[in-house]
Amino acid sequence: MPVSSRVYTETDVETFFDQTLNNYLSFWDSQGALHTGYFAGEGDQDYQAAQQRTSDMLAADAGIDESSYVLDVGCGCGNFLIHLAERFGCRGEGLDLSEERIRFAQKLAGDNPRIQFRHASATQMPYEPDRFTHVVSQDALCLVPDKERSHTEIFRVLRPGGLFAFSDFLQPQEAISERARKHVYDRVRWNGGYSLVGYQAALEMAGFEILLARNLGNHLKQTYRVLGKTAQERSQTASEDAAREWMLAFSASCKEIQVAIDDREFGWGMIVARKPASARS
Ligand SMILES: C[S@@+](CC[C@H](N)C(=O)[O-])C[C@H]1O[C@@H](n2cnc3c(N)ncnc32)[C@H](O)[C@@H]1O
Repeated sequence: MPVSSRVYTETDVETFFDQTLNNYLSFWDSQGALHTGYFAGEGDQDYQAAQQRTSDMLAADAGIDESSYVLDVGCGCGNFLIHLAERFGCRGEGLDLSEERIRFAQKLAGDNPRIQFRHASATQMPYEPDRFTHVVSQDALCLVPDKERSHTEIFRVLRPGGLFAFSDFLQPQEAISERARKHVYDRVRWNGGYSLVGYQAALEMAGFEILLARNLGNHLKQTYRVLGKTAQERSQTASEDAAREWMLAFSASCKEIQVAIDDREFGWGMIVARKPASARS
């Protein structure tokens, strides 16, 4: 059931992520990472280390090594896949709905022969069945309007026995206030998502076996606490009025987002699931 007053389409999501690339680069991460951090403790303010820790946790959960062939769905600017290829020597593909972000990822990857990035949707992937040993994703799949379809696609392109390891935003409860709708959901063109339990049920319906599920709302709250402060500080030195206003609006939203997390209107988790070894695509 969508929480928004309107239903966002893939085109709405694509436009948003194309148009906001430079805004996010200017204060979130200049290299393009755009996902939730896993912080070392309550006083930890180091977003860069925290976002890297999230990537390393997912890589460890998925058991990625040199022999892996990894697909990153909703790869954004490509940072996670580039990191995996550099650290483990694995091969991989990244796919994203935003052409601007894919262009950035291709530049960032340079001529690394082990990885490729493509502009495409999670609901219609340009890959043959059973291609990948692993599918990973960070904070992207919640944005897909037709989630059954993206789950079916992920199942199709994974090899039997392959692992799907991802983080995503959660909608812990049905009832969503106007404030959370405005500052959390409508802000990023998000129709609504699953609770952690609902997510596992949906993946089981698609044929997956659940191996692990973590509820990590406290790290989500710290991410917005730290980034809200950064946006506020950077707004003071922004040279363009539009950029300054965007950062100030984001920083104000961060306060509301933290309230929404406390009120269980917004959450974050990690899940690892397996396509059964006996499965057919
Ligand atoms: C919050 S960003 C995360 C980006 C990246 N995973 C990261 O960690 O930096 C969400 C990304 O999901 C992408 N996305 C949203 N819907 C998608 C879809 N249907 N297919 C592929 N990518 C999608 C957006 O374009 C955006 O780049």
